Amino acid sequence: RWRLPCSLSAKFEGSFAYYTVKDRMPQILTKVIDTVHRNKNKFLEAHGEEGIEAEKKALSFFSKLRNEMQTNKPILPLTDEQPDTQIWNQYLDYQKTLVGSDEEPSWFRSPWLYVECYLYRRIQEGMLLSPPISEYDVFRDVKNESFFQSQQAVVALCAHLQELKGKTNSLSSDDVRGEIYKLLQVSLWGNKCDLSISGGQDNSQRSSVLSSLDDFREFILVDDMNSLWGVLSKNRDGNAESRTRVDIVLDNAGFELVTDLVMADAMLSLNLATEVHFHGKVMPWFVSDTTKHDFDWTVQQCTAVNNKWMSKCGQSWKENLKKGRWVYHQHLFWTLPHEFCTMAEVAPDLYTELQKSDLVLFKGDLNYRKLTGDRKWDFTAPFSQALRSFHPAPLCSIRTLKADVQVGLQAGVGERLMAAEVDWMTSGKYGVIQFSPVV
Ligand code: F6P
Ligand code: MG
Repeated sequence: RWRLPCSLSAKFEGSFAYYTVKDRMPQILTKVIDTVHRNKNKFLEAHGEEGIEAEKKALSFFSKLRNEMQTNKPILPLTDEQPDTQIWNQYLDYQKTLVGSDEEPSWFRSPWLYVECYLYRRIQEGMLLSPPISEYDVFRDVKNESFFQSQQAVVALCAHLQELKGKTNSLSSDDVRGEIYKLLQVSLWGNKCDLSISGGQDNSQRSSVLSSLDDFREFILVDDMNSLWGVLSKNRDGNAESRTRVDIVLDNAGFELVTDLVMADAMLSLNLATEVHFHGKVMPWFVSDTTKHDFDWTVQQCTAVNNKWMSKCGQSWKENLKKGRWVYHQHLFWTLPHEFCTMAEVAPDLYTELQKSDLVLFKGDLNYRKLTGDRKWDFTAPFSQALRSFHPAPLCSIRTLKADVQVGLQAGVGERLMAAEVDWMTSGKYGVIQFSPVV
């Protein structure tokens, strides 16, 4: 039998986790502080003096938090009263059982996945404890800006989709396969555009990815697109009444979200799926992750814009949502620190929901970390093994590598990359489209 590898953690000095807790997370918190401060006048206008008081309160909360982090203080229980507060505090108790009796869970000693999620939940706590500005999304400005900055790439992609939709009837099965492979890859490389890895710095997509797909192909370390085709083509071949449900567990708003919407639209238009279900976050998360507001805002922006390709897309996306061909879900589980192998126990309703799917696509790096438990797996460990008990439906991770975890590589590949490029696991240059059937 195999042994469960240990969690990535900042306790491994020099690791990417260490560097993240030491430098990148404080940087993100500093950005949050700046943003709240910059919006002072907005809070004043909206809420008068109370708004200013709230701004001060939030700022002092965040400064204190930054200090706790930088001086490796123990992890504190949450003090707000939200539906997930208790689960978080229970998880802290569980973390206490993992450290020695002379130690407490802390920023630099506990698992990286846990403390990084905890940072974003504490940011939420800081806002919740500062009414009346609690609803304010501290990352909204950067998310929206990054959407506008990738406008050209968005237009190119929307034009491509509309052209494709205009010729669906004349496409052979091989053509359809080629088209969906293209859009899967666009969605993969769209994952480069997250604002967490760039510390909230502009990281938008400036050029059309479509024309670069062939050049990028060699950077796809695991390519299971044929397995995806195996699942999706069943719907095309099946009878008219058959239903195929695809779920997309979303990652970042901005360009990446548009690539996901385009892919989802093409799945319906090419008869590969009959319904697509999206899953988003209930609170601002890892800077650029998609919330309900971001999702609606993005669709709305597309309809409103003065570009015929984009607005055509926006209109049909609205229509899809109205007709129930697209369904948006949110669940607190996606903003918990738990590995996905605990979902059946922690969020049985969500697990049951995913079991209704024919294919669940997990976008992005954070989802990959949660799929694999963010552990030091051997590069050659099978993906299905790293998933442990998490097999709600056939699933696939579509992710660019931004954390020190990777499984399912051919023997020797990881070692070869390690020798050639020190940062191959964290630069976002490489990607995987990695499938697991239900085992
Ligand atoms: O540290 C890199 C990082 O910020 C990770 O925390 C996280 O895994 C990732 O980037 C976020 O990436 P994504 O948006 O692809 O989940
Ligand atoms: Mg993200």
